[in-house]
Amino acid sequence: MIGGQAASAVLLAGYDWVMDILVAGGHGQIALRLLKLLAADGHTARGLIRKPEQAADLTAVGAVPVIGDLENDPSLAPYVKGSDAVVFAAGAGPGSGPARKRTVDLGGAIKLADAAMSEGVTRYVMVSSIGAQDPSSAGPTMQPYLEAKAEADAYVIGSGLDCTIVRPGSLTDDPGTGLVTVTRDLGNRGPVPRDDVAAVLAACLVTPTTIGVTFELFAGDTPIPEALKL
Ligand SMILES: NC(=O)c1ccc[n+]([C@@H]2O[C@H](COP(=O)([O-])OP(=O)(O)OC[C@H]3O[C@@H](n4cnc5c(N)ncnc54)[C@H](OP(=O)(O)O)[C@@H]3O)[C@@H](O)[C@H]2O)c1
Repeated sequence: MIGGQAASAVLLAGYDWVMDILVAGGHGQIALRLLKLLAADGHTARGLIRKPEQAADLTAVGAVPVIGDLENDPSLAPYVKGSDAVVFAAGAGPGSGPARKRTVDLGGAIKLADAAMSEGVTRYVMVSSIGAQDPSSAGPTMQPYLEAKAEADAYVIGSGLDCTIVRPGSLTDDPGTGLVTVTRDLGNRGPVPRDDVAAVLAACLVTPTTIGVTFELFAGDTPIPEALKL
């Protein structure tokens, strides 16, 4: 179940601007939660998906489906055009091999950054991962994934875009609590509900002090607005 709408209304109380936000990987489990929160808060929430049959799921949460392929489209500029912010929430997934970590987790993130720069969109929020600070310490299965995430993060940070790099712990489908641990000290481990990751992403988009920050995210005890006072 996609939850967190009430939590978002609380989270975003006091923020009063609306944006057009493109979420790459728009049918992902975090992305659908995020799109629902953004739409409920009055933003134009657009989700980039490569499979037209997924469009109805986006419409059902109040989002606008945009058909495009992170790997096969030469540029994402036509989809990014007109946005105020972009979020990279796509991923090749655990069933994929190293090649798709390069084309999706790295290549897609770079393509999104390049499109943002070419369209004058300055805000980029990245769904990264714990472990990306030291891919070499991971096992052989995780290493290609974490290398791709680390390179993608470095590219976005080096691009000069107003970026926030969010590195969640192990994702769960537990209901969100709105309570998290956020830390700039990298190298920790722990679970975090996808509901809360989505709520943190939504909050980052309206919290300019998260620009230029890389942080890890876990389930915790601190209300999200407080946790994002970085
Ligand atoms: N699992 C963990 O514990 C964990 C921990 C930390 C961070 N993360 C990161 O968090 C991300 C989001 O998690 P999640 O659970 O929401 O992932 P998810 O449900 O697997 O969503 C990933 C989305 O990316 C899309 N995608 C893949 N290739 C694409 C392409 N070429 N063009 C457009 N879209 C494409 C997929 O769409 P299709 O249906 O078309 O394939 C899917 O909807 C993960 O990808 C991972 O990088 C995961």
